[in-house]
Amino acid sequence: MNGIVLISGNGSNLQSIIDHSAAIDLDIKAVISNHSSAYGLKRAEYANILTHTLNHKQFSSVEEFDQELSNIINQYNPEIIILAGFMRILSAKFTNQYSDKMLNIHPSLLPKFQGLNTHKRVLEAKESQHGVSIHFVTEQLDGGPIIAQVSVDVFDTDTTESLAKRVLLEEHKLFHKVIHWFTQGRLKLEKNHATLDGKVL
Ligand code: GRF
Repeated sequence: MNGIVLISGNGSNLQSIIDHSAAIDLDIKAVISNHSSAYGLKRAEYANILTHTLNHKQFSSVEEFDQELSNIINQYNPEIIILAGFMRILSAKFTNQYSDKMLNIHPSLLPKFQGLNTHKRVLEAKESQHGVSIHFVTEQLDGGPIIAQVSVDVFDTDTTESLAKRVLLEEHKLFHKVIHWFTQGRLKLEKNHATLDGKVL
């Protein structure tokens, strides 16, 4: 299945997806970053995947940025769009165009801790559990139908860094599994619910 991956930074999730791409029948046609310095662009180049940089600062509105992003994405006619650490808020017009084929990974147990700095906020709130969620992208930020979640324990000794590391390991294990469900045609968005093999998740 043809896909596009959107990133903003290090791209360790992208790397895990690249490493599993043959096994999960994913052909990554291009990687798009909003930062030219994102290390994930290098990871894509090492894997011979085409890259694009689209600097959001060069656009006067979210809508204009999203329009150009769609223009790039649509050149490839992807069947799946994967947000792997893509740190921009997308407009409703954009998300609605791709709503049944766009997946995002978020480092929290949604609906808890939407938005940024989740690890720090989890520690401040003295939560005993934290984790990762993968969801279909809708116009609600981090609010689309949840597909899969994995929890990790939070320890008293945790720092933002140690917690982030533990969650990231789970992200790397979970994302390719979920993408595989999609490439197999088992995972769908139906009537605003995520379904796997026809059953609501
Ligand atoms: C991940 O924790 C992802 O869930 C979050 O940003 C981080 C990106 O990490 N949105 P990487 O770029 O995949 O290494």
